[in-house]
Amino acid sequence: MSQPIFFQLFYDNDLPARLLELTGWEQGALSVHAFPDGESLIRVDTPVSGRPVIILANLQGPDGKYLQLAMLCDYLRQQGASGIHLLSPYLPYMRQDKAFNPGEAVSAQLFARRLGTVVDDLTTIDPHLHRIHDLSEVYRIPATTLHADPLIAQWIRNNLEKPLIIGPDSESRQWAQAVAEQVGCDHLVLEKIRHGDNDVEVSAPDAHRFTDHTPVMVDDIISTGHTMIETAQHLERLKLKAPVCIGVHGLFSGDAWRAMQNSYIADIVTCDTIPHPTNRISVAQLLADNSR
Ligand code: R5P
Repeated sequence: MSQPIFFQLFYDNDLPARLLELTGWEQGALSVHAFPDGESLIRVDTPVSGRPVIILANLQGPDGKYLQLAMLCDYLRQQGASGIHLLSPYLPYMRQDKAFNPGEAVSAQLFARRLGTVVDDLTTIDPHLHRIHDLSEVYRIPATTLHADPLIAQWIRNNLEKPLIIGPDSESRQWAQAVAEQVGCDHLVLEKIRHGDNDVEVSAPDAHRFTDHTPVMVDDIISTGHTMIETAQHLERLKLKAPVCIGVHGLFSGDAWRAMQNSYIADIVTCDTIPHPTNRISVAQLLADNSR
């Protein structure tokens, strides 16, 4: 295929530049003018006729972004682009994967249907697969899932002394073990015993062996930060050190970042899938290796 033309939407971190450096794709000239009435005008100054196009888009908070992406894609098609390939490192709406109450739309399905009408295929990283086990269950276009855990394991190996991977509950035993194996370190799984709605006892009989270790919590998404903050509180009760929290996708809804900084957490690290000051692990190589 001829050399793709690369466009990016909604990234103000280093990810687009890193990706361009690694791939040698031609950077397309795209500008978006915002009118005072809240509408926007897309302008593309690179001829795309007969050429494949790759769009890297940060779709966190998709409601305000989807229309721009859709208009860009439609315009590129009008201009003769031979294919439109979306890199959406964070894939939104995947947590709304069932009707939790009667009358509720299953947004994961509806968003997938929408997106499938504007791009030809999609590549993403660690989408939230819970009740949906594979993207093909909701996406009709080819959808590729990449995984950031090797990058996270490498970051832990390079940056932390005596890491201890924490599984926040017994359901997380398998992944905690898998991450620990990649890092080459120990892991500890907390066992939760619920006595009542607000009365949860947490035990980890082995915890005393790890008081000189650096606990590391890894999750796909940091949204409100509650999951990390609560697990960190349990670690404090178990007299372990304050943990390092690693999220693949740092959404940091509301004041989540400040709340985490004010809790028993030593450091917060995210991948650069969503621009944020905590970005310290780049997914550029992962995307480059899988987008040729
Ligand atoms: C849950 O299923 C996810 O894996 C994350 O644990 C969750 O989305 C984190 O959300 P929050 O930061 O709001 O606790």
